Amino acid sequence: MKWKSSYAIGVEAIDKQHERLFDISERIEELFLLPGHMDKFDEIVEIIEELKAYVIYHFNEEQQLMEKIQYPKYFSHLVEHQDFIEKINDFDLHELDHAQQQQLRELVDFIMTWLVEHVLEKDKAFATYCREKNM
Ligand SMILES: [Fe+2]
Repeated sequence: MKWKSSYAIGVEAIDKQHERLFDISERIEELFLLPGHMDKFDEIVEIIEELKAYVIYHFNEEQQLMEKIQYPKYFSHLVEHQDFIEKINDFDLHELDHAQQQQLRELVDFIMTWLVEHVLEKDKAFATYCREKNM
């Protein structure tokens, strides 16, 4: 879950935020890789809160930029952001207590897949539009 330079979209502020998101996700993966018999409940709750808070901040920053330049795909992009937040909110902490490793694995897979696809496709498309508009 390491950040790679190929993930850069060329908008500096956003790239920095994406890097931070990858950092948080990497820490979730590290938590998963710790021995399975450990009780990770508190750490998982804590890191999910951190992820949620940061992702809300980051999505807002992106959306403000999009509004500013009147990005034509603003609403479909917004829906993707909302879906992500919803999915993280739906993460069941009661379920977690019974199957921590399995839940963590699913969470890591979801975040990794979503983040890479979203950044490479949707955020890059936005960055291309910014460049076309000379922003
Ligand atoms: Fe985005």
